[in-house]
Amino acid sequence: MSLWWDIVYWLKKTPWDTGVTPPEIVTMIDSGKVPVGRALDLGCGTGTNAIYLAQKGFEVTGLDISGRAISLAKRKARSAQLADRVRLERGDVTLMRRWAIGHSIDFAFDIGCFHNLEPEARARYAAALTAVLKPGAIYMLYAFEPSGDQRGVGLDEIAKLFDRDYKLEGLRHGGDSHRGDRNSRKSAWYTFRKREA
Ligand SMILES: C[S@@+](CC[C@H](N)C(=O)[O-])C[C@H]1O[C@@H](n2cnc3c(N)ncnc32)[C@H](O)[C@@H]1O
Repeated sequence: MSLWWDIVYWLKKTPWDTGVTPPEIVTMIDSGKVPVGRALDLGCGTGTNAIYLAQKGFEVTGLDISGRAISLAKRKARSAQLADRVRLERGDVTLMRRWAIGHSIDFAFDIGCFHNLEPEARARYAAALTAVLKPGAIYMLYAFEPSGDQRGVGLDEIAKLFDRDYKLEGLRHGGDSHRGDRNSRKSAWYTFRKREA
């Protein structure tokens, strides 16, 4: 699977890689609801959003399965003179505990990675996320909704994986505009807060 992602990055078949941080993330950071601390970008791609958070003062780790994406991300961090503020690692998000100390993360987000995982990997991801987030931490997820035979994440699965440990504080349905209307997919932004105990 990592080879597939490497190939798409090499071929630049990456319509999501706009270089622009989504307004949902910007609004959250500007709201001050997240203390400036440690952040985790799960499936960080070429690092646009990890670098944005470092510019806002966060100590950021970005993880991505694609070595090509990580090397592009490191190049971008160097040009932004933030290489020492953003840790960019090639790795599987389901193993995030390797790169984040338990209960240390104030803010985690996933823009388009989680919905690519197999169901069993999603469960491991959810358990690992709960282990690395601080109580009260915010987690934002952007995911496709299921559509025909295309992979996505439905509300029932979200509830099953996250209800116990998280409070859903926001849900906004939308379309995936950067693919163009013809191929657009239904998607949703979820904002969760990890329960205190
Ligand atoms: C649609 S892209 C989004 C990238 C980035 N979040 C952005 O918004 O530009 C999904 C990313 O998830 C990464 N990915 C897929 N499966 C992964 C896994 N198991 N562990 C880590 N990264 C993964 C891919 O390499 C790809 O960079």
